[in-house]
Amino acid sequence: MRHHWLLLGACGWVLLILMFVTKYINFRATDGICQQSCVSCCVQVSSAPSSTSQQWQSVIDQRNRLLSSVCKEQDLRNLTHNPVSKFVLDRIFVSDSHKILFCQTPKVGNTQWKKVLIVLNGAFPSVEEIPENIVHNHEKNGLPRLSSYSPLEVTHRLDSYFKFLIVRDPFERLISAFKDKFVLNPRFEPWYKLDIAPAIIRKYRRFHSDRGHQGPEEERGTGLRFDDYVRYLGDAEGRHRLDRQFGAHIIHWLSYVELCAPCDITYDVIGHHETLEQDAAHILRAAGIEGLVTYPHIPPGITMYNRTKVQSYFNSISKRDARKLYARYQGDFRLFGYQRPGFILD
Ligand SMILES: *[C@@H]1O[C@H](CO)[C@@H](O)[C@H](O)[C@H]1NC(C)=O
Ligand SMILES: *[C@@H]1O[C@H](CO)[C@@H](O)[C@H](O)[C@H]1NC(C)=O
Repeated sequence: MRHHWLLLGACGWVLLILMFVTKYINFRATDGICQQSCVSCCVQVSSAPSSTSQQWQSVIDQRNRLLSSVCKEQDLRNLTHNPVSKFVLDRIFVSDSHKILFCQTPKVGNTQWKKVLIVLNGAFPSVEEIPENIVHNHEKNGLPRLSSYSPLEVTHRLDSYFKFLIVRDPFERLISAFKDKFVLNPRFEPWYKLDIAPAIIRKYRRFHSDRGHQGPEEERGTGLRFDDYVRYLGDAEGRHRLDRQFGAHIIHWLSYVELCAPCDITYDVIGHHETLEQDAAHILRAAGIEGLVTYPHIPPGITMYNRTKVQSYFNSISKRDARKLYARYQGDFRLFGYQRPGFILD
C-alpha cells in the first residue's frame, strides 16, 4: 500500500517538473511577441518573423474559436446586435473588386488599412500617393461604407466577402484615444475641446474647484483629465445621453463589440495590433491581395503592448473607477483574448 503512495508522489513530481519545463519553453518561444497582454496570440507562436502562413493560420483559428465560445456565454449576449445595426454597417468599408469587408476600429492603425483598400478600389495607384486629407473623406476616396448598399446587397456581402478587423489591448486603445483627442487635440477637430471635454468635466469631475493636479499636458490640451475620462467611460448607464449628444465622435472609445458586432458577423481574420507584422502579412495573403498592394512599413516596437505606459496612466485612478471601466470593456478583453489587467484592478 505504501509503495502505491510513493509511486503516486513520484509521478506527481515528474508531472510538475514537466509542466514547468514546457511553460518555460513556451515562454521563451513567445518572448518578444506577446508581452503580458495578449493571451490568445501567445500560444504556438514562433518569435521568428518568418513564421509560415500555416502556423499563423492556427493562431487565427484559435482566436476565432475563443471568440465564438465567449460569444455563446449568456452575460455577453446582450452586448450583441441582431440584426446588424446601421451603426455597425457604417463602420464597415467595402472593396467590391476584391470582395473584402473591413470593420474600422479607431486607434488601432486603421488609417493604413483604409489606404490599402483605397488603392485596391483603384482611386490611387499606391498607398504613398494618397493625400492624408483624402483618406477620411468618403466622398473622394472611393471607399464605400457597407451601409450605402441595399439590405439584399449587404447580406450578400456579409455572407460571401472576406471580412476582417484589427484589435489591440482595450485599455491601451482607450489611452491612445485620450492622448490623441484630448491631449494633442488636433486643431481641425475643435469639437473635442469645445463640446465634448467640457460636457464630460461637468458631469464627471469629482471636485470642480480642484485644479491642483493639472499637469503640462492638460494645459496644452482640452482640460480633460484621465480620471474624468475613465469615470465617463465606466458609467455604463449614465453615459448614454452624453454619447447621443457626441454623435459619431464616440467611435474612438466605443467597444469593439459596439463597433463591429463580432458575435453577429463571422469575421475571417481578427488581426492583433500587438502582432501586426505577422497579421498584416496574413490578411493580405488570406484576402488574396498579396501581390497587389503592400501594408506600409511598421516601425519596430511601436505596436507592442506597453505595460509601463498603462500603469502610469492608471496610477492616479482609484481601484473602484478602474474596475467599473473594466466591467464596461470586459467583453472586449475576453472575446479577443486580452488578459485582465490585474495590476491596476486588484
Ligand atoms: C445582460 O442582461 C442581463 C439581464 O437581462 C443583466 O443582468 C446583465 O447585467 C446584462 N449584461 C450586460 C453586460 O449588460
Ligand atoms: C513605454 O511607455 C513608457 C511611458 O510612457 C515610455 O517611457 C517607454 O519608452 C515605452 N516603452 C516602449 C518600449 O515603447
